[in-house]
Order: sequence, then C-alpha cells, then structure tokens
Amino acid sequence: MNTQNNSLAKFPHLCTMPFHKINQQDIAYFKSILEDSYVLTDSEHIDRCAGDQTEDLYYPPEVVLQPGTTGEVSSIMKYCNEQNIPVTPRGAGTGLSGGALPVWGGVALDMKRFNKILHIDKRNFQVTTEPGVITQVLQEALKSEGLFYPPDPASKGSCFIGGNVSENSGGPRAVKYGVVKDYVLNLEIVLANGEIIWTGANVLKNATGYNLTQLIVGSEGTLGVITKIVLRLIPAVKHDLLLLVPFRSAVEACAAVNAVFVAGFTPSALEFMERDALEWSMRYVQSTGIDLPADIAAHLLIEVDGNNMDELYRDAEAISQIVQQYDIGEILFADSHEQKQMLWTLRRKVGEAVKSNSIYKEEDTVVPRAELPELLKIIKELGVEYGFKSVCYGHAGDGNLHVNIVKGDMSDEDWKTKLPQGIRKLFKEVVRMGGTLSGEHGIGLVQKEFMDIAFNSVQLALMKQIKQVFDPQGILNPGKIFMS
Ligand code: LAC
Ligand code: ZN
Repeated sequence: MNTQNNSLAKFPHLCTMPFHKINQQDIAYFKSILEDSYVLTDSEHIDRCAGDQTEDLYYPPEVVLQPGTTGEVSSIMKYCNEQNIPVTPRGAGTGLSGGALPVWGGVALDMKRFNKILHIDKRNFQVTTEPGVITQVLQEALKSEGLFYPPDPASKGSCFIGGNVSENSGGPRAVKYGVVKDYVLNLEIVLANGEIIWTGANVLKNATGYNLTQLIVGSEGTLGVITKIVLRLIPAVKHDLLLLVPFRSAVEACAAVNAVFVAGFTPSALEFMERDALEWSMRYVQSTGIDLPADIAAHLLIEVDGNNMDELYRDAEAISQIVQQYDIGEILFADSHEQKQMLWTLRRKVGEAVKSNSIYKEEDTVVPRAELPELLKIIKELGVEYGFKSVCYGHAGDGNLHVNIVKGDMSDEDWKTKLPQGIRKLFKEVVRMGGTLSGEHGIGLVQKEFMDIAFNSVQLALMKQIKQVFDPQGILNPGKIFMS
C-alpha cells in the first residue's frame, strides 16, 4: 500500500495544490452565470457539501454552485476547465464511498435544482428525468402510471437518481430485477470542457459503437456531469409476499441462500441480517415487532413477487420447505402491509443503526453467490486475527455482503494501522473467490487504496487513459477511484 499517497489524498492541504484557488474574480464570474443565491460560500452550505454518509469525513468545497440548466452546467465546466478549478458533482449526499466529497476543494456542483421528471413515455416504457429527482419520488410517479423502475437502494427516500446512476446503485430488488445499469438507456452529460453530448439512444437494443452510456454509469462523477437520464421501465408488479426466516447459524443462513436458487426460485429480494444488524436496527427505530430468541444468529428476509397470488403462495411454501432443511426457528409470514413495511424499515435502517452505535467502516464485498458462506467465515476469522468486530448484512441473493466494522473498544492506533491491513487481507480473499471490492457503493475516496487488489497495472492504466480522454485536465471529481 502506498501509505504516503494515501495520507496525502486524505489531507490535501499537505500537498502542493495542483489546482487554482477560487478568488473573488471567479465568484464574480459564477454570479454572471447563476443568480447570486445559487453561488454559495456560507458555512451552512459549505459544511453540507463537505460530507456525505461515508464515515465522518469532512472535505469542504470553496464554493457551492447550484445550476438549474444544462447550459449553466456547461458554462461552469468550460470556465473551470480553463481556470483549472476542480468540480465535484453532488446529488443528495447519501453515498457510502466518499464519491461526492470535494477532496481538493474547488466547486461542489450541487444538482438539487435538477428535480424535474421531464417525460413519462408510457408507449415505450421509458422515462426521461433530471438527476436531482429523489429515487422514491420517481418510483411513485411511475407507479401511478402502472410503470415500474425496480432499483431501490436503502436510501431511496432521500437519494437522487443521478447519484444512483453515478454509483451504479443496487438495493434489495437487484437480485431479480438487476441494478441501475440495467435500466439506463441514454444520458445527457456535460463534458469537462463544457461540451454537451448524449451518450447513446433511447432504444432497448444498441450495437452501435462503443457503449458510452454504460461507461458513464458508475463512473462516480469523474468523466462527465449527468444532466438528463433516460431509463427503461417494466410493467408494475401486483403482489408480493415476505418471509422472515430465523437461523441458529449465520453460515447456514448464507448456505440456504444458494439452495433457494438451486431449487429454481428467484425471489424479488433475498436479504441477510446477522443478529446484531436486526437487533441494533430494532433498537434504533424503537421497534418491538420481532421476537428475537437468544439462540438466533441471523435472519433471511425473503420476498417473492408476481401477478398471480396463488403462484406466490406456492413459491413461498416451497421456499419455506427448502429453508427448513437447516436449523431454523419459526418463520414469520408478513401478511399485512404494515408488517411488511415494518420488516423493510428494519432492514433499510441497519446501516444508520450501526452508524449511530459506533465509529465504523463499511465494506461492500461481493462474491459469486455460492461462496457466501465461505466469505462470512473468513470475515469472522479475520476479525479474530485483527481484533475487529463486524456486523454483516446485505443482499445475499447477489452475493453482496455489507461488512460493517465497528470500532467498539479497538484502540485508535489499531483502528488506523492494523484494521487497513485486515481489510486488505479480506479484499484479497474476496478477489480469490472470484469477487470484487464493491457491489453497489462504489470506490470513491475510501476504497481507492485497494484498487490494486482488483486490477493489475495494465487494467488500471487503461482506466486512467479513459479518464484522461474525458478529462485531460483532471478537474472532474479529482482524488477518486485511483491512488494517483
Ligand atoms: C444497504 C445499503 C447500506 O443495503 O447499501 O442498507
Ligand atoms: Zn446495500
């Protein structure tokens, strides 16, 4: 690990600033493009854009700009490119890898005014939206038209669709319906030099040249600023059933996940929660809705959906037969809307609950699904070796396990030096199993020091050359994905 580069990236003020520092002339220019009230340097706005949901990181921008049109974004980018000012695009700030943190200061490009759903094309099952629309707001608007956009990150009630595209988010339903990339057909983006392009076409099949659309998806604001998004949609699904299955062994719970798929079922969600995850979440939301006997080590939350209720009951019954081959407690069938809501709230709040409990680090490991039991075993073994406690939960049906490492009573010294070694070893094991560093949270700032585990120098050089083509000056979201 290049510790020197790492520490410099985390403390930019220690480096020789490679960018132009914003002065009054720059502010005056920004005010010639935007109304004064959208050029913000007050501490409240600076502080808001200095952090996201990643640990407790703080990287203040020098100015927050709130453009409202693609033309305004273009003018800002053109100017910043000429003046060598870094620009960090920002959605709702719910990211978990530090993707929206302006680590080199400069401009935080706050996209909150891009909050319009532009066109719901019912004929073609498509929607064109601006990036600052809250994901759940978009989903509900589509649902009222009988349309379905499935990706549902835990933060769907506050995150922006633009951030979801930038990080290629997933969520529980990805196991059946796929992640954000599977729905993005076309994007309007502003390049680093201010040029405006569409990346593809509004079609379901496209074998026309390189796939620029998918290159932008998940590029974490480092290649262009997304200003319009075209998504494909599917017909709304009518019914779902939800089961909560308690296991006496967490590793067995992970093994049961694959057994469900091997038996030919594809649930619309298959989530894993270690005991602590559920217990802490219940405490966090002050819920007493679930009985948690002392011998229960983990739960699977299993949802099936479809349009035929009889078939769903049959599937749920068959799945409960499969999990009964393991050492389980009493299965809870959520049969009311309220009970389903309660279970999903508990699941969605795990991340926040852990955060409220202790200083923590969240890893977003992903392995081929059948390797999940081995992954969990290795995490716990490494915890013993490196002295950390972990709370694991996540999208087991995708082999995507969130590993929340809590500081607890670990010394500051061990947290700073020993833990990164343990995480490095964990990622090496993940890659050995055919997995990778992040399933849905991205690399951003906090995982970039591990990229050499997932990619060799040839692969990394190719990626950096792509960055160079899109952003020769390196002003777009600098300090992300790569160590240098
Ligand atoms: C979740 C977020 C952390 O699954 O990805 O809760
Ligand atoms: Zn998740």
